[in-house]
Parts: sequence; structure tokens; C-alpha cells
Amino acid sequence: MEDHRSSAFPHLTQSLLQDLTKIFHTVDGRPFIFPATGSGGWEAALVNTLSPGDRLLAVRNGQFSALFINCAERHGLKVDVIDVDWGDGVPPRQIETALKADAGHEIKGVLIVHNETATGVTSDVAAVRQAMDAAMHPALLYVDGVSSIGSLEFRMDAWGVDLAITGSQKGLMLPAGLGIICVSQKALALVESARCNRCFFDLRDMIKANQGGFFPYTPALSLLFGLRESLDMLLEEGMEQVFARHRRLADGVRAAVDAWGLKVCASRPEWNSDTVTAVMVPDGIDGAQIIDLAFRRHNLALGAGLTKMAGKLFRIGHMGDLNDLMVLGALGGVEMAMADAGVKVEFGSGVGAAAAHFQRTPAAHH
Ligand SMILES: Cc1ncc(COP(=O)(O)O)c(C=O)c1O
Repeated sequence: MEDHRSSAFPHLTQSLLQDLTKIFHTVDGRPFIFPATGSGGWEAALVNTLSPGDRLLAVRNGQFSALFINCAERHGLKVDVIDVDWGDGVPPRQIETALKADAGHEIKGVLIVHNETATGVTSDVAAVRQAMDAAMHPALLYVDGVSSIGSLEFRMDAWGVDLAITGSQKGLMLPAGLGIICVSQKALALVESARCNRCFFDLRDMIKANQGGFFPYTPALSLLFGLRESLDMLLEEGMEQVFARHRRLADGVRAAVDAWGLKVCASRPEWNSDTVTAVMVPDGIDGAQIIDLAFRRHNLALGAGLTKMAGKLFRIGHMGDLNDLMVLGALGGVEMAMADAGVKVEFGSGVGAAAAHFQRTPAAHH
């Protein structure tokens, strides 16, 4: 640890805040780092820009969008919810229609989850921005990028995102413990007038302290050192290469799922997530059992189906510091755990399909 009030400390803060803009792809947006998690990032984004009673429009297409909405409601915000099937992406046309119907511009913000980690669904944020522009609506665009930022293409400025939210434990490859948000100038202008209660997450304190390179309270130092390293890793590889690597690894995982004769939860190929694949389990098989057997017998951690999807799927995470061989190992473990749980699977079928894909499309080495 080191003295976070020392005159040497601002160098670290300033370098992190500066390099984070490259991860968010923003020139004008301003990043903030809280000792928190992604959920804290939701709260920070909402309470600094809104007042109790404000209306929001949100899409609910999985467990994380459901929790984001719940966070907003518990702060006294009124959320108009567009419910779609879990497995579907965000529907830009429905957002456009809802915004056009709001002639008085009562809706202050649109809430979406870029990558629904619960279902392995990535939505088209640029299309949502186009829908908002087509409706000529001034609402802010709040985007949960917890499982996309740092892994999937994310362009805050080009997509007109006003509040982008992430955490340290996904694309940034760190332990949990940081909630990171990036705020557009348009959203920053609302921080003074927003009336939601806040103390820990008050951006006014953060802005004041960050100006000198400090934090208003003890920062999560070890994670800031880690963030310095993960930003170096990402920027050294190059963000475009990072995006391409995730696409390629995900294509390998999807080739395996195909070879197993199984389906992913995403209902259309354009919604397939390149950071997490949710695999629907065959009828009569409990997804939770596959996950438990993978953990107990093969030391492999798979993601569970959450709430509505409990037991119906298991999730393979493929984000962060990952390469072909790590993915092939995980797929081998999935094959064994599925066989343990009674799924008819030919050993090597998925591993082979992924290996063939990786061999055909050599990785860019850096
Ligand atoms: C898309 C998404 N949003 C929000 C969260 C919540 O983040 P945290 O668990 O860091 O609070 C998660 C966690 O997995 C997530 O995947």
C-alpha cells in the first residue's frame, strides 16, 4: 500500500482516468472510479443525474436488466418497462415508439444493458441511439456495460452514451471491488440539479477530489494498481484486437455448442454475445446439476441460469485474459460435466469443432 494523500499519488489517479477514456472510446466523457461493484455503478449513474419521481424507460431482457430497473425504482424513479423474452436483445423500434409517444419529454433516461450476462445477449447500442434521435427525444442514454466494456466493441461518443457503467471483475480482468462509470458532458451538467439522495456516490465530491488526483475517501488501492496493469494489457494489445479476439474465441465456443446439437439462449445470431454463451440444456436435464458436477468433479466454474432461467441453461464465460487453449480446456470440461449429468455427448465433438475453428483462423499474436 502507499499513502493515497501523498504528493506522488495523483500520478496514478490521473493516468487511470486518462486511459479509461480509451476503453470507453470517449473524448468528452469523464470516468469515475468508486470502491464498489457494477451495482454501485448503476446507483452512482442514477442518483447523480435524476430526481425522485423522474420517469425512465427501460428494457428488461434478463436478470441484470431486471436488477438495474429495481435499483432505479428503489431510488423513487418511475420506470416504464419494455418486457421482452429473455434471450432477446433490446428492441430499438419499441424504444422509438415509446419516446415518440412522450411528447412532453417526461422521460429523462433510457436504461439498457449492452450485454445481458444472464442470457448471453448483446444488444445494438448504436441502434438505440438512432431510435432516440429519430424520436428527437432528449432523454439520457444509460448503458450497463459491465460484461461488455473492455471486451466487446463499445463506443461511448459514437453511440451517444451518456452514462456508461462497468465493474472491475469482467473485461478489466480484476477481482471485484471497483464500480467504474463514464459520464457525458450532457449528463455532468445535471449533477448539481439532480435531487436523488447521495453521499458515498456523490459525483460532486469525486469531481472535487479527482481534480487534484485524489479521492474523497480511501480508494481501493490494490485494485487501482491492478487497473493500471489491466489497462496496460488492453492498450498494449489494442482495443480493436481485443474485440477481434473475443469474437474469434466466442465463435469457437458457438461452434462447440452447435456440434453438441444444443442451442444458445440468444434467440437470433446477431444477439450472440462474444463474452458469455448461455447454453440451453436438453429437456429432462437440470442445468444446475451440470454446473455442480463441473465444479465438483472437474474444477470448472460455469455460470448458472438466473431466476426465470434457473436450471434451463448453463453459461460459459469467455472474456478477459483468455486464449484458444484455455477455451478448449473449458469446453473439454463442459463435455465431461454434461456426460456426468446424463447428456448424450460425443467426447471431443465440441472441442474438435472449436479447435478446427481456431486452427482455420490463426490468432493475431502481439
Ligand atoms: C450486465 C451486468 N450488470 C450488472 C452486474 C452487477 O455487477 P456487480 O455484481 O459487480 O455488482 C453484473 C454482474 O454480473 C452484470 O453481469
